[in-house]
Amino acid sequence: MVYPPGIAFHPHLPERLGFSRLLALMSPELHRLLEATDPFTLVMRRNRVTLWREARRILRRNIPGDFVEIGVHRGGTAGILAQVLQSEPSRTLHLFDRWGDLPEPTPRDGFIAETYRKDLIPEKLSDLKDRPPLPDAKRLLQSVLGFPVAQTRYWEGWYKDTFRAYDGNRIAFASIDCDYYESVRDSLAFLTPLLAEGATIVLDDYSTWPGAKAAADEWLPTNAKLYPMPTGPAVIRLQGDWRSAGKCAER
Ligand SMILES: C[S@@+](CC[C@H](N)C(=O)[O-])C[C@H]1O[C@@H](n2cnc3c(N)ncnc32)[C@H](O)[C@@H]1O
Repeated sequence: MVYPPGIAFHPHLPERLGFSRLLALMSPELHRLLEATDPFTLVMRRNRVTLWREARRILRRNIPGDFVEIGVHRGGTAGILAQVLQSEPSRTLHLFDRWGDLPEPTPRDGFIAETYRKDLIPEKLSDLKDRPPLPDAKRLLQSVLGFPVAQTRYWEGWYKDTFRAYDGNRIAFASIDCDYYESVRDSLAFLTPLLAEGATIVLDDYSTWPGAKAAADEWLPTNAKLYPMPTGPAVIRLQGDWRSAGKCAER
């Protein structure tokens, strides 16, 4: 398996072999950020590191555009993007979520969806009622990390409605973390006309949710490189004039 240069190290270093301790020595700033976002996320530390590295790469390469997260929940991964954007006040962070309800999986989501529907959705819905996620996301971004409110846009609602209302800029970086085939498919369709040349997408659920993988594989254009990470996500880097280059052949 091939990884993009620079990110091969982290996915292979298991927690028990000292990933966190090593990171605290190598990058205290990133280690503090992981600690601050821990209580606000479902995403493991190594995958947040991938997000951080890919988002910073966009700034280093001066790819123009705003940052987007689709699937925010309590804001942990959005917090990683907010921290990266602290030095870039001209870029907005757009956050899309229903915050407080969950869509139903469909047959495209495979066997995992059935278990999810029966056991986990009722439990998750009652948790969302007891502890609403949007105030947590705002607290992390604005109070804990000090990210400017004026640089954040909260798009609250079902994606089919909020994507239609989007009136923002083009997009340089997108984090997609919404599990289901239909949600990922609609996110990629929404992003297609907006993504800048050289943009990157990190799709959190590529190897863990079969529907998310199917939606990404169906969408992937020819001029894109998809790097599956062993811990679940895929990094998708768009190259050159990717829109006019057409679709990938059968993968
Ligand atoms: C796995 S959680 C996101 C986790 C988050 N990135 C973190 O750091 O923990 C997925 C979120 O996507 C939202 N979601 C999924 N499909 C959606 C849709 N069609 N419209 C709106 N929100 C959706 C869910 O409500 C949920 O909050």
